[in-house]
Amino acid sequence: MSEVARLPGAVTVRDDPTGVAAGWIVEIARVAMAEGGRFRIALAGGSAARTLYQVLAVTPHRERTDWGRWEVYFGDERACPPDDPANNCRMAREALLDLVPVRPELIHRMEAERADLDAAAAEYSSILVSTCPTAATGSAPRLDCILLGLGENGHTASLFPGDPALQVRDRWAVRSRADYAPFDRITVTYPVLNAAAHVAFLVTGATKGEALRGVVEGRAPAAGVRPPDGELRWFMDTAAAGSL
Ligand code: 6PG
Repeated sequence: MSEVARLPGAVTVRDDPTGVAAGWIVEIARVAMAEGGRFRIALAGGSAARTLYQVLAVTPHRERTDWGRWEVYFGDERACPPDDPANNCRMAREALLDLVPVRPELIHRMEAERADLDAAAAEYSSILVSTCPTAATGSAPRLDCILLGLGENGHTASLFPGDPALQVRDRWAVRSRADYAPFDRITVTYPVLNAAAHVAFLVTGATKGEALRGVVEGRAPAAGVRPPDGELRWFMDTAAAGSL
């Protein structure tokens, strides 16, 4: 069996998986809009996500979705000003959100530049609760789609190895701490990741082997993403797949 088949969920490996991932998103957006009116998606940071946003922002994917019905969230944010180059929302704006007709009032960014990160995280929890349906399994808000990166240390969103945020089950967004700068973060928690209808990891580059082994062996934070009532996908390039 190919090593990538040991990952939980369906795995797509391509020299460049971006086009397949973009097509997948457009299709689940279509289905979500048909069922519920809006398409609720949480975006990720990282270079793999940025490449995907750049592809979504141009022909042919750009014309294949009704951007006015996208409601955009973030899986995590770094404690820095919104115009800082490290800010995940700034990256998503530059690569996608400023280039397509998403309604500004339907973009929910995490205000991680605030001094009180606990309060900012609690407010983000409230936004999730007030704008999303509740999952049938459990009480967490259910997003249609969550995009995730995979760090070399096995983190995803801003759920880092050993951080207390990994244990949180009763809140939907919390502060967390990375082991590299910017250290302070806001992240959604496992209950939100596991309440989603569709979750996709975007993994590129030859440096992800140890993290992928950590997922297969259940010890990486990313291994905790196993939505019981949702689809889990991995979109990987051949370099990442070959490193497992
Ligand atoms: C962060 C990064 C991080 C990123 C992964 C994967 O906030 O620390 O955004 O979570 O998503 O490290 O990054 P690449 O897609 O660049 O490999």
